[in-house]
Amino acid sequence: MSHLLCGIALVALFRGSNSDIVGGQGDFVFEYVPEKLVMPAGTSMQHAHGWAVDAKDNIYLTYAPDPASGDQGCLVRWAPDGSGGEVLGRGKNLSAGTPHGLRLAKEGDHYFLYHANNDQTLHKTTLDGEILWSRFGPPTNDTRFKPNRPTWFGTPPGSKFVYLADGYGSNYIHVYTTEGEYTGQSFGGPGTENGKFSTCHSINFDPRVGKLVVTDRENHRHQYFDFDTGSASKFDFSSAFTVLELVRPCNMRFDFGNGYAMVPSLEGPVGILDRNNQLVSLVNVSGLLGDKGHLHPHDATFLPNGDMVVATWNPGRISYWRKLPKAVIQI
Ligand SMILES: *[C@@H]1O[C@H](CO)[C@@H](O)[C@H](O)[C@H]1NC(C)=O
Ligand SMILES: *[C@@H]1O[C@H](CO)[C@@H](O)[C@H](O)[C@H]1NC(C)=O
Ligand SMILES: *[C@@H]1O[C@H](CO)[C@@H](O)[C@H](O)[C@H]1NC(C)=O
Repeated sequence: MSHLLCGIALVALFRGSNSDIVGGQGDFVFEYVPEKLVMPAGTSMQHAHGWAVDAKDNIYLTYAPDPASGDQGCLVRWAPDGSGGEVLGRGKNLSAGTPHGLRLAKEGDHYFLYHANNDQTLHKTTLDGEILWSRFGPPTNDTRFKPNRPTWFGTPPGSKFVYLADGYGSNYIHVYTTEGEYTGQSFGGPGTENGKFSTCHSINFDPRVGKLVVTDRENHRHQYFDFDTGSASKFDFSSAFTVLELVRPCNMRFDFGNGYAMVPSLEGPVGILDRNNQLVSLVNVSGLLGDKGHLHPHDATFLPNGDMVVATWNPGRISYWRKLPKAVIQI
């Protein structure tokens, strides 16, 4: 056993994996773990689009199936350790069009998933992928709301309302009730001024500040908005920020209480931001895994254990990254 005393072997022992593909800086250094997040048999992924993590730490992915393959899946769930992937809600109702954004919501004591599909389609499902309601087409025939290519929902806790980003379409944020009824309230529209968007790709609730944050991808920024859980008509610009190293941000995710955020950026990296939205670590996903096809990070999220998962677009790839303990990094 004496060989275990050598530092290299200790590193391997602590990591439990030997991919040797490591990225990030400071407190956020991650090692790629190729064994985790195996796609279930029968799936044929064209693009990997969005993550969700439930209250039991299970990991969900929505993906766009390859239309030529006959795959009628689009939603996969793995156990918290990234094992045992299973397809949920298999069938054309959920998988037709282009399944895109996935967002967990807690409503009372129950959890749901909100799906934004680029093909003018919205769904609310159970965590098992059972469809509760679907909506088709723009919320009204107002010409401002065309084209309609929804990208992501935001689901602030304790709210009667969910916020739909029409990121590939009209660049409006439409407010729906949790029952799927349009409230008549829409905000934004195309432009570069504060409160306007150029590909409002995602909207999410930032628990650190209690505001909604819109990932305004082709304006290379995030914009914060004040809102009201009881009124659909409040959506007031609060502030904006840009991280120069994250050129085409796709989403903004938050950890489980430590005050950090994660931003996947389509041109290649995933950034970790501190409480002030300053970049503290950059994992060069396309640089490290580009030879395996992981080129365009489209979503990334922390897991409750501190690890990270990344989903890439064109082609669809997913990766599990174990956060390395500081002691190991120093060896
Ligand atoms: C799929 O959608 C159609 C049309 O809304 C509906 O009639 C059918 O029951 C749905 N099937 C499933 C399995 O949900
Ligand atoms: C939009 O117009 C079409 C065609 O006139 C109509 O069938 C549809 O119900 C309208 N949609 C809404 C949301 O008003
Ligand atoms: C990512 O890695 C690639 C390939 O090594 C390199 O060309 C690129 O500059 C890196 N990007 C960043 C932001 O470090």
